[in-house]
Amino acid sequence: MPLAPAYEIKDAKLAAHGQERIIWASHAMPVLELIRQRFEKEKPLQGVRLGACLHVTSETANLMITLQAGGALPYLCASNPLSTQDDVAAALVENHGIPVFAITGENNETYYRHINAVLDAEPQLTMDDGADLVSTVHSKRPALAAAIVGGTEETTTGVIRLRAMAERNILRYPIIAVNDADTKHFFDNRYGTGQSTIDGIIRATNRLLAGSTFVVCGYGWCGRGVAMRAHGMGANVVVTEVDAVRALEAAMDGYRVLPISEAAKIGDFFCTLTGDIAVIRGEHFEVMKDGVIIANSGHFNVELDLESLRRMCSKHLVVKEFVEEYKLPNGRRIYVLGEGRLVNLAAAEGHPAAVMDMSFANQALAAEYIFKNAATLGKQVYPVPKHLDQQVARLKLAAMNIQIDRLTPEQEKYLTSWEMGT
Ligand code: ADE
Repeated sequence: MPLAPAYEIKDAKLAAHGQERIIWASHAMPVLELIRQRFEKEKPLQGVRLGACLHVTSETANLMITLQAGGALPYLCASNPLSTQDDVAAALVENHGIPVFAITGENNETYYRHINAVLDAEPQLTMDDGADLVSTVHSKRPALAAAIVGGTEETTTGVIRLRAMAERNILRYPIIAVNDADTKHFFDNRYGTGQSTIDGIIRATNRLLAGSTFVVCGYGWCGRGVAMRAHGMGANVVVTEVDAVRALEAAMDGYRVLPISEAAKIGDFFCTLTGDIAVIRGEHFEVMKDGVIIANSGHFNVELDLESLRRMCSKHLVVKEFVEEYKLPNGRRIYVLGEGRLVNLAAAEGHPAAVMDMSFANQALAAEYIFKNAATLGKQVYPVPKHLDQQVARLKLAAMNIQIDRLTPEQEKYLTSWEMGT
């Protein structure tokens, strides 16, 4: 039998460039750095095989280095076919001895071959962004579950999938929902997605947002962030929603709220961030203006019904990197960015390191926690323990040199009493 490859990357010669990017990102990740220093002393994950399926970026590289400092043996594959930074993957292999199985632009078959390569290492911990690693274990390689003590999940979409598995009683090991930590979704989903999505759209198109109509589909934390940043750049923001409370919130945040059937007629830019499928469909493409820009920043490439668009169009061509033109029989042109995959990672570099610092500090602490406490946990999805979430916030504030107040004894007493009224 041929030996399994030790790693699979685009080009090892890119390592020097990748290493520079890893170091640059590390400068904006002080919380993770403190954890790395403690991990180096305490080795809480000594000898633990850890399978990670994450976007292979310079920020993820710093997480892998932290886990390795804690004694873990990380194996990394991509959580999206377009998000791998090939130079970073090369540096992880060449400079840090971490096996990586990821090549940007890989097709679906290679994507799953790489997931399976990580699983061949028989991980004891899994770390996911979107739950493809966990779902492959459960659907294709269930025998591996016996040796897995726990896992962590980075994103909203993955947490939804894992909760569905737990509710059906098929989840085989405990998972920590890193996404649900306050120090993750308040910052990464809102400010990270807000900035990096606009960054991706601008890098791909260099179009002006000021004065445009920018349609944000979905007003969760990610949608809120994109709406805020598009507004900040002078766009007239329209929000589409299915949830009444979120729609109200968008309206009172000052945005126009419309059904997508109406928004489709007036938008210049469209960005989906709903976590659901077929949000923009054939009947919407049909009524769009000539030259609209369409992007997705939700986890999976399912939010734009590109199948319908392909069927409808009379001509389809790549007009520049990350931009595909679909010409409709009515003569109008629709431009889709990054194949409808996460535009912030496909056309830009993902969230800035300063927010990934908190997300990945949670990941590192959650991995340590779940490995230590696995015996006491059921086959459920658990939140990041509050004290760890608070610890990340305190360390981040300290790194930003921000001081906050403490409750006085009198205030503390008041907050636990009921006697005092008007
Ligand atoms: N998800 C969004 N941005 C990211 C980044 N920079 N690195 C890893 N995962 C991400």
